[in-house]
Amino acid sequence: MDGKKYIDIHSHILWGLDDGAETREDTIAMMTQAYEDGACALCLTPHYEPEIFEYDTETLRARFAEAQAYAAENFEGLSLYLGNELSVRNDGVECIRHGRCLTLSEGRYVLIDFFGLSEYAQMRRSLETFMCAGYIPIVAHVERYSFMRGKLREVAELSREGVLFQVNSQSLMRAERASLSKKMAEKMLARGLADVIASDAHDKSVRTPRLSECRAFVEKRYGSDYAQMLFYTNPKAILKNKSIQV
Ligand SMILES: [Fe+2]
Repeated sequence: MDGKKYIDIHSHILWGLDDGAETREDTIAMMTQAYEDGACALCLTPHYEPEIFEYDTETLRARFAEAQAYAAENFEGLSLYLGNELSVRNDGVECIRHGRCLTLSEGRYVLIDFFGLSEYAQMRRSLETFMCAGYIPIVAHVERYSFMRGKLREVAELSREGVLFQVNSQSLMRAERASLSKKMAEKMLARGLADVIASDAHDKSVRTPRLSECRAFVEKRYGSDYAQMLFYTNPKAILKNKSIQV
């Protein structure tokens, strides 16, 4: 296995569904960028927030099938998976159970965006509802929530209880040197609290699906074993619905 390969579990590459790729051409351009940069699997995760982004599951599945057919034809060795990034809501578990919102690769892992909440206790309660229902929640870009900044003890506690934490590559690589997101992301990695790094790609120029630069940075700063876990082993286990490395 090529040590420089990576697997991205969080991206807005499917066109015309949310605030990510706008056209089929954008989708192809972003898949090309990822493939040429070393991606061997991508999970396409449009926002699930029906009050803002209106699309039905049939459209989602049809676009995914089209992207998958294109990838099979043009990108040898690139696997595509489907999922959603669920915007936190009280009926999140119901939305999943009724098939309106998709888990990652339709397994037991749920990617959840907690923007809109203002305190840790709310996030904790929400995470508990998913765990009680038998799902494994993955907190999307924890470093971006102001209410979680500096709460490393709480992150560690949730982590022990089985919650996973995803960090955005952009927070490590592109944010202002002194930004609060960057500081939180660095602390997460320094303490081994991050489980996955993903692109959260939205377009082909600013928030792109390229992860190789970030992977090289993490290797150099935090070691190649941790980089392999964050960019390959854990995301692979998640998309295969297996347990991750602890
Ligand atoms: Fe996202």
